[in-house]
Amino acid sequence: MKGIVLSGGSGTRLYPMTRAANKQLLPVYNKPMVYYPLTTLMLAGCREILLVVNPHDEDAYRRLFGDGSQWGLAIDYAVQPKPGGIAEVFLVGRKFIGGDRVGLILGDNLFYGDSLPSVAERGALGSGAVIYAYWVNDPSAYGVIEFDGAERPISIVEKPATPRSHWVVTGLYFYDADVCDIAASTPRSARGELEITDVNAHYLKEGRLTVEKLGRGYAWLDTGTPTSLLRAAQFVETVEDRQGLQIGSPEEVAWRKGFIDDGAFARLIEPIRQSEYGRYLQRLLARS
Ligand code: G1P
Repeated sequence: MKGIVLSGGSGTRLYPMTRAANKQLLPVYNKPMVYYPLTTLMLAGCREILLVVNPHDEDAYRRLFGDGSQWGLAIDYAVQPKPGGIAEVFLVGRKFIGGDRVGLILGDNLFYGDSLPSVAERGALGSGAVIYAYWVNDPSAYGVIEFDGAERPISIVEKPATPRSHWVVTGLYFYDADVCDIAASTPRSARGELEITDVNAHYLKEGRLTVEKLGRGYAWLDTGTPTSLLRAAQFVETVEDRQGLQIGSPEEVAWRKGFIDDGAFARLIEPIRQSEYGRYLQRLLARS
C-alpha cells in the first residue's frame, strides 16, 4: 500500500517558530509532528511512502527519514514548488502513485483512538474515495459534511460561513489511482488552490465517496496555532505518562507490525540508548 504525507506549507500561523524550521518538523511533546501522521499511515498498512515537502526542506526531511529502510519502509520525496492546495500532491505524486490505490495524510494531523488501525486499514482496502469525519465545535474552519437521514453524505462544503453540520473532513484520505486525473481536471478555487474538497465532491457526485465517522472516542487534534500545538503536546504527554506507552513512534509501529524484526529493532535502539525515547524502545523489546 502506498501513502503520501503532505509536509509542506508555510506555517504562517506559527511564526516565528516556523521562520527557520518547517512546521511539521516542530515537536509535539517528544517527537517531530510528522511522526504522528506517518505512523497513522503505517498502521493503515502503508509501506511505500512519498513525502511531499517544500524545496528548501527536503534536506531536513532526508536527514530525519532517509530512505525509510530502517523502519521497513520505502520513503521517497517530491517537492511542491509552492503551497498550492492539498490536491496538488496528486500532480507532484502522479509517478509515485502509478496505477495504485493511495492514502494521503496531512503532516500536521494527529489522530488517536483504539480502533484507528482497523478504521484506517478499511480505508486503505476500500474503493473509490474513503474519508473520515469528526465532530468539532467550530466547523467553519474546515470542509463540512452534511448527511441525510440514512447517514449518507449529501454535501461537502469548504469553510462555509454557515455550516450545515458539525461533522468536518479530517486530513486522512484514501483514493483509487484515478484521483490523479480528477485532481488534474479540477479548477483552482478562489484562493488559488487545488482543493481536496473539490476532489471529494467529485467522488460524491459519482457515488464513489465513503465517509467514516470517527466518534467521540477518538481524538483528532489541530496543531496550527501556538495554543493548539501546546494542547496537542499536553494530550500526548498525559496519555504517554499514564500508560507508559508512546503515541506515534515509527520504530515501535514498524516492530509491532512486523516491518522489522527484533534484531533490526535492537540495532535502531543501540545508538539512542541514552535518550528517554531509546530507553522506552529498549523496555518494549526487553518485555517481549
Ligand atoms: C484543509 C481542507 C479541509 C479539511 C482540513 C483538515 O483545510 O481544505 O477540507 O477539513 O484541511 O485539516 P486547510 O488546511 O486548507 O485550512
